Amino acid sequence: MGNPKNRVFRKNPVFENLETLSQYAADLFVRVARDAVARRGRFLAALSGGGTPQRLYELLAQLPRLAQIPWAQTHFFWADERCVPPDADGSNYRQVREAILIHAPVPPANVHRVSGELSPPAAAAEYAQQLATFAAAGLNYPRFDLVLLGMGGDGHTASLFPGFDRGAADASPTLAVTAHYEGRPADRVTLTPPVLNAARQVVFLVAGAEKAVALARVWRGDGAEMPASLIQPHDGQLTWLVDAAAASGVKN
Ligand code: 6PG
Repeated sequence: MGNPKNRVFRKNPVFENLETLSQYAADLFVRVARDAVARRGRFLAALSGGGTPQRLYELLAQLPRLAQIPWAQTHFFWADERCVPPDADGSNYRQVREAILIHAPVPPANVHRVSGELSPPAAAAEYAQQLATFAAAGLNYPRFDLVLLGMGGDGHTASLFPGFDRGAADASPTLAVTAHYEGRPADRVTLTPPVLNAARQVVFLVAGAEKAVALARVWRGDGAEMPASLIQPHDGQLTWLVDAAAASGVKN
């Protein structure tokens, strides 16, 4: 299930549709989780919001993956969060709670959500403290085993939007941001490029024709103002899982 249908660009598979993409991503999630637990005893994952990963999240909480994921050793973090209460419609935590956490045996202590009910600066500071308790040697944040990211039609990723404060982002693992996108909650907290680029594996999930122009530019290397272009793990793997519609602007 979920094998790329048509093409592969620079080792990045292109899927027929979001369903096959999600199936492949779910298998990848299982593999990375099991490998991380075998090597280091725990699996640290940072998830994103948005429509694209919804199906993936549902698949993780269904058999066969439900029985394959080492839930007790899996820790959930968020690449970004909208500053709304955890039970609000726009909450990325709520999305994951409803799709995964209420179905899978994840210990509550393994869920490290951003406190979206706080003001953005307070939520960013509190989240930075949580990250510090999982810090890798020499850092004040963990090296995530897996970061799942999306990309907007404007090239944003996590809540790093075009024109974001690079100086502040380079100086801190978390950043409070206000950005308007598709009527979603504007106040947000995001992980910053140093944290994302320290991950062992970063996987972008990108689907839909509305992403085609941005994807082509990021892949061509002429999307310098697009934050997604900044995600280049320095000692990890970067994988783009895209569907045919999103890849339609990329020339062979
Ligand atoms: C968020 C996201 C954001 C998302 C993109 C793509 O919380 O808003 O983390 O970065 O991944 O906006 O969203 P779609 O998957 O809905 O296109």
